[in-house]
Amino acid sequence: MSEARTAKGKIRQGQKESVRPLIPAARIQKRIRAMAKEIRRDFPEERLHLVSVLKGGVFFLTDLARSIPGEVSFDFIAVASYGQNTHSSGQVRLTRDLDSSIEGRTVIVVEDILDTGMTLQYLLRLFQQRKPKHLRVAVLLDKPERRIAAVRADYVGFTIPNEFVVGYGLDYSERYRNLPYVGILKLGSGAKPQK
Ligand code: IMP
Ligand code: MG
Repeated sequence: MSEARTAKGKIRQGQKESVRPLIPAARIQKRIRAMAKEIRRDFPEERLHLVSVLKGGVFFLTDLARSIPGEVSFDFIAVASYGQNTHSSGQVRLTRDLDSSIEGRTVIVVEDILDTGMTLQYLLRLFQQRKPKHLRVAVLLDKPERRIAAVRADYVGFTIPNEFVVGYGLDYSERYRNLPYVGILKLGSGAKPQK
């Protein structure tokens, strides 16, 4: 239904909130298998320690981990962002630390999306201080147009346009994470969704 009636019975112009499919589930799975191979090719002998950022990165982590042959372990971290993420004053704070040390390990940070880059910049600084053997970044989605921080991912699933996306772990107020595909969120009001 795309129309609703006001109390006075007039038809309201607004549309219902909707998600327009952007990347189908099968394409995501295929791309993750290819990324897993690429990561293993770069580190053929090493145990890979995947570190995912809660909660958005969880589906990507579990699918990626199952596609990487050989020894893999993983851990989780959670962060909260403060202030306007759309400019450089956006601050990131740690809300849940890793369970174990990453010193001497080959660490792959697994993130759902690289947007302004503020989150990743914070995490890379934090992890670098802990002296991993290697530190790499894998992101499912990259929105390069929005970048503020000078960070880049070593492995990118899909480069996408500057649109607010949901699904496959990505949320809008905690909703839509469970969609098996990635889609562009359109709000009923026509306004641009904000993370
Ligand atoms: P950054 O610090 O600006 O790079 O933002 C990274 C985080 O913002 C991601 O891990 C997501 O949780 C969230 N985010 C950025 N863009 C989107 C989007 O299009 N949809 C949903 N969440 C997003
Ligand atoms: Mg989020």
